Amino acid sequence: MKAIEVKNLDFSYGENKVLKDINFTANVGDVIVITGENGCGKSTLIKVMTGENTPDRGEVNILEEPIDNKNIKKIGYVPQSQGDNFIAFPLTSKELVVLQAYDEFGFIKIPSRKLYKKAEELLKTLGLEEYINTPVSELSGGLRQRVMIARALMNEPSILIFDEPTAGVDEDSKKYLAEILKKLNDKHGSTIILVTHELSWIKDNINTPHIYKISQGGISC
Ligand SMILES: Nc1ncnc2c1ncn2[C@@H]1O[C@H](COP(=O)(O)OP(=O)(O)OP(=O)(O)O)[C@@H](O)[C@H]1O
Ligand SMILES: [Mg+2]
Repeated sequence: MKAIEVKNLDFSYGENKVLKDINFTANVGDVIVITGENGCGKSTLIKVMTGENTPDRGEVNILEEPIDNKNIKKIGYVPQSQGDNFIAFPLTSKELVVLQAYDEFGFIKIPSRKLYKKAEELLKTLGLEEYINTPVSELSGGLRQRVMIARALMNEPSILIFDEPTAGVDEDSKKYLAEILKKLNDKHGSTIILVTHELSWIKDNINTPHIYKISQGGISC
């Protein structure tokens, strides 16, 4: 079964044609690594896969169906860090994570105790017990990245996409990331797509990654 399939995909920002005829498949249970130089279009491709960018041409299929508002929820996405500009409003870690389950809030749109509990458990799994009630804007970049991982896991997605999850984070955060990736892939059979430059970290921490490189000419394996 194909988890994500991208076919003959073109994408431009105005006149700037960033992605040209990209073809790429991630099967269920695969760990896919996407690498390539700064500015070559990795984040742009991820945003096409998560529905944020609409392609000029080509197809994106999620679990063998065209991408739509429903199957997009099978994807958990940890965006590339936006540095300190990110989240200026005073949400706590727990609130940010629980908001991800908005669809389950019910008629009065207030999260249930059960959802808060789930958010807390996820934060604990990522070693963030002492930051559960800390405003996200007060956390360091690495800790914030871990909150974003907890958030991506809240709806138990079968496909996880991480854009540069190791960039600018310390060894401790990398360790949690490696553990969570291993658990998701080995125990839950999750499909994982990672954008990263750190190929040696990948080799040390991921069993059989499929590595794709994006360049001006397209994508190669
Ligand atoms: N929102 C945007 N509007 C216009 N141009 C953009 C936008 N986002 C990215 N670009 C341009 O598209 C190209 C690809 O950018 P993208 O962020 O996808 O690269 P990347 O491979 O993720 O780079 P990095 O390794 O630095 O994260 C770049 O030329 C960039 O300037
Ligand atoms: Mg990027």
